[in-house]
Amino acid sequence: MKKIALITSGGDSPGMNACIRSIVKTCLFYNIIPFGIYDGFQGMIDKRGVELGYSDVDNIIYRGGTILGTARCEEFRTAEGRQKAINFLKEESVDGLVVIGGDGSFTGAYTLGKEMSIPIIGIPGTIDNDIFGTDHTIGFDTALNTVVDAIDKIRDTASSHHRAFFIEVMGRDAGFIALNAAIASGAESVLIPEELTNIDKLVEEIKTQNKGRRSSIIIVAEGDDGGGAKEILEKVKPFLPNYDLRFSVLGHIQRGGSPSALDRIIATRMGSYSVELLIEGKSNCMIGVYGETLSTCSIESGIKEHAVPEQSKIDILKKLRTQ
Ligand code: F6P
Repeated sequence: MKKIALITSGGDSPGMNACIRSIVKTCLFYNIIPFGIYDGFQGMIDKRGVELGYSDVDNIIYRGGTILGTARCEEFRTAEGRQKAINFLKEESVDGLVVIGGDGSFTGAYTLGKEMSIPIIGIPGTIDNDIFGTDHTIGFDTALNTVVDAIDKIRDTASSHHRAFFIEVMGRDAGFIALNAAIASGAESVLIPEELTNIDKLVEEIKTQNKGRRSSIIIVAEGDDGGGAKEILEKVKPFLPNYDLRFSVLGHIQRGGSPSALDRIIATRMGSYSVELLIEGKSNCMIGVYGETLSTCSIESGIKEHAVPEQSKIDILKKLRTQ
C-alpha cells in the first residue's frame, strides 16, 4: 500500500474534515501517500486530485463541510463515466480507496469495486444516520444538536403566541433526525417515514395536546408519506379553525457548523481504521461503530439492508405524549 486515495461524496456532513485529517495523518505515519480527490466521484472523472501533507489538514478538525468538496455525480452512474474514473486511479497508481459518504456514495463505491480490482473502504458520512451497519454516521450528532437548538428557540415563540408549529427536518428516507429530535426537545408529535401518517389522528392529538397548553411542536421528517411541514399544516388546517398554526423548514443549516465532540471522535477513529484495514489487505468493507466499538460489514450490506430507528424510541414518545 503506497498510495491511498480518499473522497468525500454525496451530501456533506460535519465531521468529514476530521475524518480527512485522520486518514491523511495515519497514511503519513505509515509512509503512505494520501491522495485527496476533489468533489467526490466527479473529481475522479475530471482527474482532479492532490497529494496531501500535514499542513493541508492543520486546523480543520473543528470545521464543518469538507475541504475536498463533494458532489452528487450523475456521470458516475454511466459505464463511460466510471471508465474515466478508473483510468485516473490507474494513472495515479492508487493502491486503495476510502469513500466517505452515504448510501448513494456506497453504491458508487460498490459498483467501482466490481469493475476495478482496487480495495475500497466505506466510511458512513451523512447527517441522516440512515446507513445499516452502524449506530452513528459522521455528522448525525451535530445535525441533531443543531435541530434541537433550533426547536428550543421556536418553542419560545410558539409558547408566547400559543401556536402549534410544524417543523420540518432533513431525512429524505429516514426518521432518525426527527425521532431523536422529538425525544430531545420534548416535541408533542413526530411524523416519520417509518410510520404511516394518519391526518385524523394527528388532528385529535393536537386538540388533546392543546387543552390548557401554550404550544405544540410537531416535527415532520422531510421524507414523511404525508408530505412536508407546509403540506401537513394545510391538511390539518380545515379541522383546526381556532388554532394558530405555523410551519418552519430548518433546511441546510442542519448540514453545517462545527462538528460535535462525538462526531469528531467517531470520524477520527473511523478514518484511522480505514487506513489500517487497507494495510491489512481488507477490501469492500464499511466501517461502523456500535457503542464504543468499531466494526466492519460489507459495503453491499450497507447498501442493501435498511437502517431503521429503534422501535423503543418510537414507543417512548407514545407513552410520553402530553395530555
Ligand atoms: O445529506 C442528506 C440530505 O441532507 C437529505 O436529508 C436531504 O434530503 C438531502 O441531503 C438534501 O440534499 P441537497 O440539497 O444537497 O440535494
